[in-house]
Amino acid sequence: MQEIKYKLSSLFLFFTMFLMFSCSDTQETGNLSDDGSRELSEVELNGRKVYRTYCLACHQKDGSGVRNMYPPVRESDWVEGDVKRLVDLIVNGLSGPIVVNGEEYNGVMPAQDYLTDDQIAAVLTYMRLNMGNKASEVTTEEVNRIRQEL
Ligand code: HEC
Repeated sequence: MQEIKYKLSSLFLFFTMFLMFSCSDTQETGNLSDDGSRELSEVELNGRKVYRTYCLACHQKDGSGVRNMYPPVRESDWVEGDVKRLVDLIVNGLSGPIVVNGEEYNGVMPAQDYLTDDQIAAVLTYMRLNMGNKASEVTTEEVNRIRQEL
């Protein structure tokens, strides 16, 4: 009996510690912008979720990319640039030589055309307002209009 109690309490302890660790992880990322200066909007939070689910594997969590393989989306002249070009490369993918911040890349980005207009607007808004980029938000209507023209 004593032994079962002991086992149960260590299980309980383990579970509590597990909870504490998983909570501290969400606190670490928090709901703050990259530079910690403000709370992320609802749209940016959605965008961050899209980014971490579909883009992080190649472009990395902080957007710095992988040298000679995956270009950075952090402080990127592409991310800060033309919205039509951005929607196009997400919907249709991108391949062939490109120059990002003066460095050449020649890889293949697969099309991410399963994303909804909402998700594309959110991920672009998140990226253009964070990761060292300073550009305007992108609305769902804008993505919808551009997508029909592609
Ligand atoms: C399988 C890897 C991969 C995934 C996943 C991926 N990309 Fe890319 N991305 C690339 C590569 C490779 C290029 C450069 C293509 C070339 O060289 O022509 C690129 C280029 C870009 C560029 C233009 C250049 C720059 O660095 O600013 C943007 C913006 C971009 N990706 C955004 C995204 C977004 C947003 C997602 C998620 C919805 C995403 N990518 C998912 C591999 C990936």
